[in-house]
Amino acid sequence: MCGIIGSTGDAATLNDLVEGLARLEYRGYDSAGVAVARADGTLDRIRAVDGTTSLKLLADLASERSEGYIAGLGHTRWATHGRVTTENAHPHMDCSGGIGVVHNGIVENFRELKAELESEEHHFDSQTDTEVIAHLLESFLKQGLSLREAVMQSMSRLRGAMSFVAIDSKDPGVMVGTKRMAPLIVGKGRGANFVASDIPAILGKADSFYQVGDNQVVVVSPQGIELFDLTGTSVQLVEISVDWDLAAAERGGFSDFMSKEIFEQPAAVRDTLLGRLNAPGEIVLDEMRLDPEELRRINKIFIVGCGTSYHAGMVAKYAIEHWTRIPVELDISSEFRYRDPVLDQETLVIGVSQSGETLDTLAAMNEASLLGAKTLVVSNVMGSSMARTADAVLYTRAGPEIGVAATKTHTAQISALLLLALYLAQVRHCLYPSEIREIYEEMITLPEKIEQVLATDAAVQEVAQSMAAVKRFYFIGRHVGYPVALEGALKLKEISYLPAEGYPAGELKHGPIAMIDSDAVVFGVTTRTRLWEKMTSNLEEVRVRGARIVVVANEGDTQSVGLGDAAFEVPKTHALLAPVLDVIPLQLFAYHLAVALGNDVDRPRNLAKTVTVE
Ligand code: AGP
Repeated sequence: MCGIIGSTGDAATLNDLVEGLARLEYRGYDSAGVAVARADGTLDRIRAVDGTTSLKLLADLASERSEGYIAGLGHTRWATHGRVTTENAHPHMDCSGGIGVVHNGIVENFRELKAELESEEHHFDSQTDTEVIAHLLESFLKQGLSLREAVMQSMSRLRGAMSFVAIDSKDPGVMVGTKRMAPLIVGKGRGANFVASDIPAILGKADSFYQVGDNQVVVVSPQGIELFDLTGTSVQLVEISVDWDLAAAERGGFSDFMSKEIFEQPAAVRDTLLGRLNAPGEIVLDEMRLDPEELRRINKIFIVGCGTSYHAGMVAKYAIEHWTRIPVELDISSEFRYRDPVLDQETLVIGVSQSGETLDTLAAMNEASLLGAKTLVVSNVMGSSMARTADAVLYTRAGPEIGVAATKTHTAQISALLLLALYLAQVRHCLYPSEIREIYEEMITLPEKIEQVLATDAAVQEVAQSMAAVKRFYFIGRHVGYPVALEGALKLKEISYLPAEGYPAGELKHGPIAMIDSDAVVFGVTTRTRLWEKMTSNLEEVRVRGARIVVVANEGDTQSVGLGDAAFEVPKTHALLAPVLDVIPLQLFAYHLAVALGNDVDRPRNLAKTVTVE
């Protein structure tokens, strides 16, 4: 939520900021702005508001005013405090206009700080929480502190999870940033150094990337990057290994990131699965920092995540319980944290988060650590906050995901979690090695089978276009078809803005079926499992109430296909692996319906890619 970028150095340009912001739009696109320190000692601010056009406006303004650039900060906003107006767009400034601040997160005590600062004659121009940071820094600078010291002092006054970066026109080449449970990284390039909320913003510009830890302060200047703790003690920089290339963060011929990423799923799943079986036929998870002995002692697992990641976690619950017999509880991260969960040293908490930065999941994992549990994160971003703080990490290798609606990271997450389930079964001797190998061999056929599903795109598009006037959708499934149903509904809600609900098929008759009539369309995940007959009965129940039915069925399964007014066919696979295939036509359906409705699929209203506020 909210994207941050800053650049400084001889080779740094205002264009860096504008390009970086274009790559950060997935963090929010309510408004955008830059503050540029110029050689003449001024801080020049340019801001633009208006959803889709703000970056274009900014680029036009920037091209007119790029002369004399020394350093600058850029920001793309997802509004929390203060409406979407120019005055609320970042960067925010102090009374003198010499200090600029960009911020991500929430200053929870901003009301009391604002009242205090106003009583000291500070004048506020916006309704944001962010502006208190600029004035707080101004107060500390007036007391004779340096910008670095002022940032350190501010952190003890500011409550909440946040990251921010400040610039002072009196020392214009220097940017000072800090963070607490919100993302911030720095990068070194040739002739320019950078700070950013996310790696894609500075891909192709920085050659090396470094972590900023919680409660650390980073000073980025043309000469280099220095890191400190809040007492001012110097801290060693830790490099993040980044294997993403610039092309991965661009559309590459597709009309939008969402369709590009849907079509990247064969590679995302292949890369996540590759090299995970050694010559003797054992699953190897290189990044895992948990000792097999510790994993053998685990007697309870919790899986936490939000949205699409939660749905991937639900698939994992079925697989882990089935293959290892370890009891698994699944929690929405924001609920887990505050429900006083019962954990101890023999509990493993698995966080699922593509970004590794979602505040609710990060906080849930931290809470689990405090309570003594072991923590493991499945993340797509190397060096992300969760990857750094969890006891163990398992990376999905999906490449950067820019589309707000998660697609390739979802199927990569399920693949990684299935690998983890097999690994747990292996270290705990719950499955025979031959069984593990057989399942893994089936898993590595998934990329090819995904290609086959993607080849049905035109047929899915036709069905979606024929349903452009439908106003209500329901998705039902049983067992691992249930998380597929939830994810199908979430994708549709996110980008079509239409009511779409997912239910366990058996639960429908306990209430939701009251909503079913001839205006409804019901999707049934009807690929073959031992529950197939029960699933077909549930579909009959909605058919007789007049709903139109679309089934996700196995290729050539004429009985299943015959149950639907339309059918999306997918290849057959192991029942627990099926969600990787079954969800894809539902992603395509959501995509084509949203396009047919004229929606911007990469920038769905009200959403941001990574939710770093509670
Ligand atoms: C997915 O389409 C959504 N954008 C959202 O539900 C997302 O999955 C959720 O916010 C969790 O994000 P994370 O995986 O980065 O933690």
